[in-house]
Amino acid sequence: MADQAKTPVVAEAHLVDTFHPPQKMLDKHPSKPHISSLEEYQQLYKESITEPEKYWARKARELLTWTRDFETVRTGSLANGDVAWFLEGQLNASYNLVDRHAFKDPNKVAIIYEADEPNEGRNLTYGELLREVSKVAHVLKKMGVRKGDTVAIYLPMIPEAIIAFLAITRIGAVHSVVFAGFSADSLRDRVLDAQSKVVITSDEGKRGGKLIGTKKIVDDALKQCPDVSSVLVFKRTGADIPWTPGRDLWWHEEVEKWPSYIAPEVMNSEDPLFLLYTSGSTGKPKGVMHTTAGYLLGAAMTGKYVFDIHDGDRYFCGGDVGWITGHTYVVYAPLLLGVSTVVFEGTPAYPNFSRYWEIIEKHKVTQFYVAPTALRLLKRAGDDFVKAHMPELRVLGSVGEPIAAEVWKWYFEVVGKEEAQIVDTYWQTETGSNVITPLAGVTPTKPGSASLPFFGIEPAIIDPVSGEEIHGNDVEGVLAFKQPWPSMARTVWGAHKRYMDTYLNVYKGYYFTGDGAGRDHEGFYWIRGRVDDVVNVSGHRLSTAEIEAALIEHHAVAEAAVVGVADELTGQAVNAFVAIKDGNESSDALRKEFILQVRKSIGPFAAPKAVYIVPDLPKTRSGKIMRRILRKILAGEEDQLGDTTTLSDPSIVDKIIKTVHESR
Ligand code: WTA
Repeated sequence: MADQAKTPVVAEAHLVDTFHPPQKMLDKHPSKPHISSLEEYQQLYKESITEPEKYWARKARELLTWTRDFETVRTGSLANGDVAWFLEGQLNASYNLVDRHAFKDPNKVAIIYEADEPNEGRNLTYGELLREVSKVAHVLKKMGVRKGDTVAIYLPMIPEAIIAFLAITRIGAVHSVVFAGFSADSLRDRVLDAQSKVVITSDEGKRGGKLIGTKKIVDDALKQCPDVSSVLVFKRTGADIPWTPGRDLWWHEEVEKWPSYIAPEVMNSEDPLFLLYTSGSTGKPKGVMHTTAGYLLGAAMTGKYVFDIHDGDRYFCGGDVGWITGHTYVVYAPLLLGVSTVVFEGTPAYPNFSRYWEIIEKHKVTQFYVAPTALRLLKRAGDDFVKAHMPELRVLGSVGEPIAAEVWKWYFEVVGKEEAQIVDTYWQTETGSNVITPLAGVTPTKPGSASLPFFGIEPAIIDPVSGEEIHGNDVEGVLAFKQPWPSMARTVWGAHKRYMDTYLNVYKGYYFTGDGAGRDHEGFYWIRGRVDDVVNVSGHRLSTAEIEAALIEHHAVAEAAVVGVADELTGQAVNAFVAIKDGNESSDALRKEFILQVRKSIGPFAAPKAVYIVPDLPKTRSGKIMRRILRKILAGEEDQLGDTTTLSDPSIVDKIIKTVHESR
């Protein structure tokens, strides 16, 4: 953290251009943005901070449908870690996402499924969605799932993933989605930690023209999960797959047995809605828990105001439902607002680099939301791929990592033809929904800045050395929030102390994000990236400690240190330094084995881009690994290593430098 504090005050902010919501976007708007001006935002923002209870009570009644109204808007505090919203209130998530729209207009399209192969997709209306969700809800009940139980989802990006989310919430159970790129070991750990007894999966997945043995991975994972009693398997490709009679059931056979309606379970506002595992500073992933009313409100609010979603819109978020972006912006926000959401199974590069733009053209998408890593890839592929006609696009969102100014401008000019507004949205698994972000049609933007706080979010820049808040503009430090907001995570599953220590005890009275940030002369926020041991690879949040733990599992590894390095395409890349046990020889084959080990323990997306086998790691006399030195060596800043005399063996530094140079 100390490194962060030394960063000079935001100098570039004075030099960058400010972009106002494009006039052409307003011209083609079906009506007008929900918020009419920056002044109106400022006024409402002020109310949301000074009178949060009044503000949020009004919004909660406006955007959600309640079975029973709430009386207490907010209780608890950040300091105590017992925040709760809308007590006494009762509602059901699936009712809010499906029924209320199905009753109004059953023929309205809810899901636009764009399959891996263009033209193999289909649409699902709200009426169909209600029937499908109800049937699967019956099936889950028959399997013994009760209110409060967790159900694991390990599915590719197909409509059934969304149906599964909604069926689980319909009966008051808690979904725990595991990204289908995670390995069997990672899936096992999450199923065990969440104590899920039911897993929903598919026979195979299909992505970028390649088949993925989804069910086989589940089978491997479940070898060590004796408490899983049922696995519901959706037939995606019809491949021959292993089958455990008595445990495994086919989705299509089970749903046929049940009626197409089941009443939604009435839930309390603070009942858990879902768990989503995310990486932190330690090796063990955390099951971040969100609750029902607050999370739903955050999703609906940001969908409405950040993306300016209107009734007839078709919303396309390219994130996977295995991550928070997919939860909130493929599923919850668009369906809460009753619009059509695109569920895209494939990749931006298949069959070619025009795929996103062709989807936007084909389905007349109005808002598109993706991570900069995909934009960097597509920008590099060349402008010729962006030929699609996308006249309906009004909003282009960016999420998950900083977006470089030249990528921002490419997105704005080449993709958006200067007719759509870029919204660079900053948030986290734990915040539930966007927290620092422009509002489309309202907020002026500066490339690279996530701009201004969303309603109810009161940011603070803290000096990490003194722990004191730094007031005023033109300041730099770490980012925290001073007030609770409805969609903040309430706990880490089974580990409330860890929740407190990670987020709420670091700076008492504040929620700590783990990110460095600056506030420029106009009060705009610039996110600098993580100040903890988290690396962001292609928008995937990875823990260096988790990758190190994976490497240590290999029999030849004595010690490992993992650092993130800047990477042109993936933002950051994972580099690993490994000291091997006596009796092993450094070789390419061994390096490959180490990479395979990480793929097996975590998943292919976490694989190190480079592995350096070194005689030892730079350690202090007390045994602490100095990752800072490794980072400097990789950045070619060998002349800025600082004091290395405190190392137990200072001569190791030259040996590591030599290894790195030789392998380049
Ligand atoms: C980073 C993803 C810069 C940040 C939604 C955060 C960003 C972490 C942005 C959370 C952005 C997210 N600009 N950095 N617009 N959005 N981040 O939990 O470091 O997967 O702490 O949630 O991504 O990652 P997570």
